[in-house]
Amino acid sequence: MTKKYTITAALPYANGPLHLGHVAGVYLPADTFVRFLRMNDADVLFVCGSDEHGAAITLRAKKEGVSPKEIVDKYHGIIGKAFTDFGIEFDIYDRTSSALHHETSSDFFKELNNKDRFIQKTSEQYYDADYNQFLADRYITGTCPKCQSADAYGDQCEKCGSDLSPTDLINPKSTLSGQLPVLRKTSHWFLPMDQHEGWLKRWITDGLLDGEQQHDPKAWRNQVTGQCMSWIDGGLKPRAMTRDLDWGVKVPLPEGEGKVLYVWLDAPIGYISATKKWAKENNKKWEDYWLKEHAGDRKLVHFIGKDNIVFHAIIFPILLKDHGGYILPDNVPASEFLNLEGDKFSTSRNWAVWLHEYIEAYPDKIDELKYVLTSIAPESKDAEFTWKDFQSRVNSELADVMGNFLNRTIVLTHKYYNGVIPAGHKRDERDEPAILEMRQIGERIEALMYKYKFREAQSEMMGLARLGNRYLAENEPWKLAKTDPARVETIMSVSLEITLRLSIAAYPFLPATSKKIQSILNIEALKWADYENTKLIPGNVIQKPEILFVKIEDDFVENEIGKLQSKASKPSKFKPMKEPIDFDTFQKLDLRMGKIISAEKIEKADKLLKLTVDTGIDVRTVVSGIALDYAPEEIVNKTVLVLLNLVPRKIRGVESQGMVLMAEDEDGKLSFLATEKEFLHGQSVS
Ligand code: 2FM
Ligand code: ZN
Repeated sequence: MTKKYTITAALPYANGPLHLGHVAGVYLPADTFVRFLRMNDADVLFVCGSDEHGAAITLRAKKEGVSPKEIVDKYHGIIGKAFTDFGIEFDIYDRTSSALHHETSSDFFKELNNKDRFIQKTSEQYYDADYNQFLADRYITGTCPKCQSADAYGDQCEKCGSDLSPTDLINPKSTLSGQLPVLRKTSHWFLPMDQHEGWLKRWITDGLLDGEQQHDPKAWRNQVTGQCMSWIDGGLKPRAMTRDLDWGVKVPLPEGEGKVLYVWLDAPIGYISATKKWAKENNKKWEDYWLKEHAGDRKLVHFIGKDNIVFHAIIFPILLKDHGGYILPDNVPASEFLNLEGDKFSTSRNWAVWLHEYIEAYPDKIDELKYVLTSIAPESKDAEFTWKDFQSRVNSELADVMGNFLNRTIVLTHKYYNGVIPAGHKRDERDEPAILEMRQIGERIEALMYKYKFREAQSEMMGLARLGNRYLAENEPWKLAKTDPARVETIMSVSLEITLRLSIAAYPFLPATSKKIQSILNIEALKWADYENTKLIPGNVIQKPEILFVKIEDDFVENEIGKLQSKASKPSKFKPMKEPIDFDTFQKLDLRMGKIISAEKIEKADKLLKLTVDTGIDVRTVVSGIALDYAPEEIVNKTVLVLLNLVPRKIRGVESQGMVLMAEDEDGKLSFLATEKEFLHGQSVS
């Protein structure tokens, strides 16, 4: 029976390029699995696309001083190209800013709303008064109440994976202004997740839904089930499914003016919109991939990173079930995290190996990277990528084991038979163990692939090359060439058979290498079923050997580590940049050099000094918060930078008619800005 799959890979945020951590955890395992399914003639649809909404995008736009649209267009292009160049074969790479996605997610929301699956309620949410904006998700950071990590987001702590609300954070701070936010009332549509605990528990732990067996719970990774159960056991809370933002899918209701759908509501629906687009373009029906009635026993599988577990194994299933008619995920093979050279991957610190940069630098080493990333894939625990380890795996496994076996077999076939495949003679007890093991390796690979254990499956594939090397070393055809040519023919025919199997087993992991081996053997792309039966045809000629893997030199490693270190920025203690202002606004500031002619303390205000400043055009009073850093007598006669046209304000009963500008060091200590020469007071500054 044809196996049917809808495979999704987490939609990457279009707010930056992909790094190797993303690739190892999500896209490479998904592609490996899909290649294997396709070799098995499964009916498989593989979808992905850019996640273009949410704070990840708007914050990046703010940082770069451009519009969110410019950000998503830029990174959608970079990410999509990197996937293509790396050979990740999605059926479609879509984007959530598309009109079809807006329509699909908006209809989905309306359907749930019509079915009364949301609770609309007004609550107090954090608000940044400087920016006139509510602070949800990444707009707010603070200390995680669970693990005390200092930079948890308003929706999640990346350190311990806890699912948070902004009001859970200790010492909350606005990402926009860096200030302590205030609480303000706003109304939102909440998903009452607490009402779903019962069925979720049964579905996750036993695979049961409405009394029917939906999936094999033992096939789920322990950490996925574990994380889900710890959320459920900790008590699920209603979660807002809308946000006070203007970037995203508009809430499709009159009372939703100024609000958009929560990005984690619209993003997974992106898998469905992508399917709709693909179906339209390929004359298929999207319903066959998603709706129970049409999809039959089709399996929905979400490849994701561990920080996405709650969204794919709890929230999205609730939404799908609430909507009705949809299949639920059969498995959610989430990966743990990959670290890099002893530290976490970090986009903000530029501590990363970017996929597009790797491809550009080493377009002929794509399979090498795939091999290493699958070898260290963080399937069940966090793992680490280092360039030294990359070198060692390429050299001692790909080149010395696989390359060596393939090269020896092909070279000897040319040497003894001018490249003509020998028929061989009767195989005996010297050959049978290798033939048996070859078959068993195939069976083990197949079983491991369906268990989502790609790391072990790839290691079995390499075991086939090891087997080949061992077989050649034990049978030493080179010693028998003169004395027993018949036996040599048999040995070479077995070795060529191992080569053939290796080309099949390598395809999910090393597609380019697999194709190269098959082109040397002069055969067409083989299916997985061929592993069992196919034979090379004696008398056919094979091509000349070619170098499959070039060894990595030490200077390659040093160069890569050097690049990484020189590009990385130090962690910043500083506040993020404020909203950009235009030049006209800047020109409105009246900044001048002034001279402090007297200074005195203000009663009951430890931090404040009352300064009398000669601005060159007048003498005025300025209240300044510098009393902890300077005594009044220290600053008389100092030349200072003053902002003159700040609207006067009463501070502790004294009217301040401007502001003295100071520099603040890392510990918050203030200093006057240095001037190289004595200025004429009243001189404008520009
Ligand atoms: O964590 C992320 O990168 C999200 N953009 C993943 C979204 S997956 C899906 F739901 F769209
Ligand atoms: Zn935490």
